Amino acid sequence: MGETEGYKKDWYKQMSFYQIWVRSFADGNGDGIGDLYGVYDKLEYVKSLGVDGIWFSPVYPSPNADYGYDISDYKDIHPDFGTLDQFKKVLEKAHSLGLKIIMDLVVNHTSDEHPWFKESRKGKDNPYSDYYIWRDEPNNWDSLFEGKAWEYDEQRGQYYLHIFAKKQPDLNMDNPKVREEVESIMRFWLDMGVDGFREDVINFISKKEGLPNGLPFIPAVNGMPHYKDGPHIHEYMAQFRKVCNEYDCFQIGEGPMTTVNSALKYLTGPTKSLDMMISFDHMMADCVYTEYVHRPFSLVKLKKAFSKWQYALAGKAWNSLYLENHDHPRIISRYGSEKYWRESGTMLAASFLFQRGTPFIYQGQEIGMTNIRLRSIHQYVDVSSKTNYHTYHLKEKTSKRMHRIHLSSRDSARTPMQWNDHKYAGFSTVRPWFYVNPNYKMVNVAAEENDKLSILNFYRKCLNLRKHSKALLYGSYKEYYPKDKFIYVYERAYKNIRYLIICSFTSLTLTVRIPTEYEGKKGELVLCNYRGHAGELYRPYECRVYRYKV
Ligand code: NOJ
Repeated sequence: MGETEGYKKDWYKQMSFYQIWVRSFADGNGDGIGDLYGVYDKLEYVKSLGVDGIWFSPVYPSPNADYGYDISDYKDIHPDFGTLDQFKKVLEKAHSLGLKIIMDLVVNHTSDEHPWFKESRKGKDNPYSDYYIWRDEPNNWDSLFEGKAWEYDEQRGQYYLHIFAKKQPDLNMDNPKVREEVESIMRFWLDMGVDGFREDVINFISKKEGLPNGLPFIPAVNGMPHYKDGPHIHEYMAQFRKVCNEYDCFQIGEGPMTTVNSALKYLTGPTKSLDMMISFDHMMADCVYTEYVHRPFSLVKLKKAFSKWQYALAGKAWNSLYLENHDHPRIISRYGSEKYWRESGTMLAASFLFQRGTPFIYQGQEIGMTNIRLRSIHQYVDVSSKTNYHTYHLKEKTSKRMHRIHLSSRDSARTPMQWNDHKYAGFSTVRPWFYVNPNYKMVNVAAEENDKLSILNFYRKCLNLRKHSKALLYGSYKEYYPKDKFIYVYERAYKNIRYLIICSFTSLTLTVRIPTEYEGKKGELVLCNYRGHAGELYRPYECRVYRYKV
């Protein structure tokens, strides 16, 4: 049986998604903060990209210790963003445009301002007492965001666990009542009509019994072996899957530090509980653990990560494809070149959009937004950037430490969306809540709408091509020249159709040899990020997509 046969053509496989981080997308009510009124007005724009759905980063009430990922009410909308009624209007309009909506489900932790936590900290005989993880003595785990993973609570007289920031206490998923709450949250949104969930750090929700100490010398992630893919994870995931199965709902899980083998357990067989997993291997081609240790970008590492997941999931499971989201600095500034901004922005699009899987495009990626470089750490707002600055590499000069922040901060992904070259980039009529990238006069939607060769229009072309090709949707994947340091070449094949995608990751001009099995065959050039092409000579960051009939 061919590799592409035997698939049930589930709806999400043909889709592509656009991720909206509402606070920075579009300000509809003139207070400097992005909101659901702004989203409502921009839905036609989203649709025009050729995507089929939206993933909303959390839109719920939150004190914003982690910008929405610290939730204080799972069944309402943050007043900065609007109301539940406004959300329903967005949902209705999105559906009428043929766009599905998936919500962020953040249930590893809540905010410490959630009523459950406020009750839980009151004492041990409280009905919410076991909603969180309390201990008289902490173990040695570090948190991923802020010092030790345990915080002493005066009121309760015990320590609570927080794998992320101090204001993000971990829920005790071993408590059946907590799992019932999760079910109830899911039903609340599904009954309203949403189409699925992106499940935040979902591989962390089951902790090892007894919470044993972690390895002493590995900072930040020392406890991870005891909370990643924990003992009851698949049991709990099955419970949530059951809810989703009652609806035609789709689930994508975020799996920090997940390996292919552990991901496959969530994606296949009797423990299948997710349709896709967000993996991180390919986001570490220029760093370790995303933010802490930087190294020069290595295309070979990137390709290895891409192909590892493509080959391992082939015929078994479905990939999610992304190069940006709200947790990573902008991709042109990392794997491309700000000097060759348009060329590398378009090439990067082709490097991932044609792989096998469902693409996720993050707001601003489609116009090539780049990293912001603020002068002082005080101007940054992200909790993990601030901790990194104040914790690591303290012996280095300030300028070097700021350079690290410029390379790594999540705030680069959270600057206001650049709609046009007006004041505040058309994001708002008043001073926005966060700094606008000064390059907005050149990098903005309006300018790119009018330019046939723009990054924006290239994204549209890629998504359109993918959507109308069985080979690009369902075909097999094969990589050529894995050791080449400058060129990424991959093939997608279905029956007698073959696509060859050739991406140059260098500012050098170089000759690219077509794979031997293609020699003598006539391919049609269906996409290129330059006007016209120059045979075997590839210009800086050039990419081409050839279609062959064999
Ligand atoms: C992953 C989310 O994507 C990130 O933004 C957040 O800070 C952590 N999970 C904690 O919720």
